[in-house]
Amino acid sequence: MNSSGKSIKISFYPLIVFFAFNFNLCAQPDAPALYQQYCAQCHGAELNGGMASSLVDGVWQFGAEDGYIRRNIKHGIPHLGMPSYERTMSDDDIRAVVQYIRETERNKGVVKPSTPQMVETMDYFLEVETFADNLEIPWAIDFLDGNTALITERPGRLRMVKNGVLQSEPVKNTPKVLHEGQGGLMDVAVDPDFEQNGWIYLAYSHALENSKESRPPAMTRVVRGKIENNTWVKEQVLFEAPAETYQATRHHYGCRIVFDPWGHLFFAVGDRGAGYQAQDFTLPNGKVHRIFKDGAVPGDNPFLYDETAMKSLFSLGNRNIQGMAIHPETGELWTTEHGPMGGDELNRIESGKNYGWETITYGRNYNGTIITELTHLPGMEQPVLYWKPSIAVCGLDFYTGDLFGKWKNRLLVGALKYEEVRLLQVEEDRVVHEQVIFKGAGRVRDVSTGPDGAIYVVLNNPGKVVRLTPRE
Ligand code: HEC
Repeated sequence: MNSSGKSIKISFYPLIVFFAFNFNLCAQPDAPALYQQYCAQCHGAELNGGMASSLVDGVWQFGAEDGYIRRNIKHGIPHLGMPSYERTMSDDDIRAVVQYIRETERNKGVVKPSTPQMVETMDYFLEVETFADNLEIPWAIDFLDGNTALITERPGRLRMVKNGVLQSEPVKNTPKVLHEGQGGLMDVAVDPDFEQNGWIYLAYSHALENSKESRPPAMTRVVRGKIENNTWVKEQVLFEAPAETYQATRHHYGCRIVFDPWGHLFFAVGDRGAGYQAQDFTLPNGKVHRIFKDGAVPGDNPFLYDETAMKSLFSLGNRNIQGMAIHPETGELWTTEHGPMGGDELNRIESGKNYGWETITYGRNYNGTIITELTHLPGMEQPVLYWKPSIAVCGLDFYTGDLFGKWKNRLLVGALKYEEVRLLQVEEDRVVHEQVIFKGAGRVRDVSTGPDGAIYVVLNNPGKVVRLTPRE
């Protein structure tokens, strides 16, 4: 079809190379720097994976030859959230990055960080112990009581830890999830009145049933159920988006579940890769939703006045929230969301407000191109804090235990890319202090105060949960 174009390209190529070489106009691309700037956010600083797969494990889902790899970088894999670098990297840059990936693969293979035993922070020495090990992409943790924890694994398993022992058999009959891209089984949340009612809540990526598409559309779904004889029973669907809003993309699903003191359940749906839809209140994506624990819509939800709006909406303009927590004193909702490159945000979410994505943002596209120059607009909220560069926020909890007295009501923030847990001191709607309390043991997917007052950190690469306590 394009044979004439092709032949021109081929005949000019040696000339260009000669030109560049002869006059030394183009410096050699700095591949490690390019990699850190453009790729590390998703594929991990050590190339061994994170939000996206490892590039040094020898598995090439989309073609193993250099040519395929270069093509995937140049044109991206849009439905999975792999950006295209055509506009920001030259062919030489891409070639150099592929070489760098190959060298890293040869030299060290998969890097598995080891977990430190002891960590020093400003206020405490932390003891670090492994609470559960050999998990596959654990995503969230919550507690049924002082002796029992539930952990989700993204491929679709709900695991139980009883008296410190991970049960080998996952809970049977949990919902069928779509485990592709960033999707799968995400949050687990235990009802605040679990002792009386036994309800457990799950959020997951749900593929449209009976779809004729080769890649069935998917969306975030929230259900509750009970566990009897290690089996998921009595399931009720609390939130299912209309079928026409399901999308073929496989990223930005959200999703966390939290409860405020007034019986509301909050969850967030990510923008599903369609940023502009975060401003459209007829659609579920890019929003925070508020329902009652049985799925009913509260009579004071902010968008009930408009017939076309989704009734469960609570706020707009949220790109991909993967951290949610309720302030222990005020009952307010706090969230962390993944921004694009350089735009991770901490927000205090108020009813009916618009948090700006993708009309305003501090971030840029992953390939370095500009989304918008706007960071402020009337009628749109500013984040309490934003991280530039992005730390890849994931998992959020207020510390509410007694073991770390100095950390009462401080905010624990997990970070995938930076492999960190940060501790933020918030006063009203300001962050007055931030410190890193744990780092380098793996990508942090979730953080949670346990019923025993310990801090539980859910790690990916390696897939495990560690328990942090202060040394006596
Ligand atoms: C916003 C996240 C993101 C960024 C940034 C990103 N990727 Fe990806 N990449 C993905 C996703 C998602 C996939 C699909 C497979 C998966 O889940 O890993 C992917 C797939 C790939 C593949 C195909 C892997 C295979 O198994 O065949 C290659 C190669 C790749 N990326 C290289 C890169 C390089 C090089 C960069 C930087 C120039 C980069 N990516 C930046 C998300 C990202």
